[in-house]
Amino acid sequence: MGTRRPLVAGNWKMNGSRAESATLLDGVKKGVSSAFRAEVAVCPPFILLPLAAEKLAGSGIAWGGQNLSVHSAGAYTGEVSGPMLKDYGCTYVIVGHSERRAFYSESDTLVAEKFAAAQNAGLIPILCVGETLQEREAGQTEAVVARQLEAVLDKHGIGGFKNAVIAYEPVWAIGTGKTATPQQAQDVHRFIRGRLAARDKAVAENTRILYGGSMKGGNAGELLAQPDIDGGLIGGASLQADEFIAIGRAAG
Ligand code: PGA
Repeated sequence: MGTRRPLVAGNWKMNGSRAESATLLDGVKKGVSSAFRAEVAVCPPFILLPLAAEKLAGSGIAWGGQNLSVHSAGAYTGEVSGPMLKDYGCTYVIVGHSERRAFYSESDTLVAEKFAAAQNAGLIPILCVGETLQEREAGQTEAVVARQLEAVLDKHGIGGFKNAVIAYEPVWAIGTGKTATPQQAQDVHRFIRGRLAARDKAVAENTRILYGGSMKGGNAGELLAQPDIDGGLIGGASLQADEFIAIGRAAG
């Protein structure tokens, strides 16, 4: 992890009633110690953000959205904009999650636009990249990750990464219980940092690269011990306060 402050971010996806979410937020708040070296954040569904803002204000735990519109306001039925997320106190917003890419046809170009929309609204994008099982088996992991990353780099330059987080999430590890081995993850994280370093060494050194894909309390330690893994983007395990907190603790 080097000198980078780890980030452990929960991606709740489309889960949680109001009551369940209140309990989860209380549990996370209670369990996250100010002694953690890691920064902790949760990304609930949009409709639960006011509740997160109310519960987490002043706690040191950040919150964020799971997606945003490329537009800032206007006639875009069903969308939520970056300025709206900012207005509710969000620090982060997930951009280009593989589920958005796969189920909502988000292209590399659209993801690059969302990355900019987030920054224009004063939010820190968590840019997700990662290969499918088929792509990994075909030896295309680096090519896919490079394509997803370069789409943003080409549009916004390396400067865009001065205030951004990257999450490497192999699609085959998401929600499957199959975690990448620490070495598999480290290899891709190092590759990503190398691509950034080719443009600017200092930015590469300072950018946090999270791992995502079936991370839980029991496997977080060995993943987070890798030199280029700076935290986690946690799906399933972020819905259980104890598991999520265990990951935060493992991050130091
Ligand atoms: P998972 O999800 O931890 O449930 O595998 C991670 C993610 O999709 O961000």
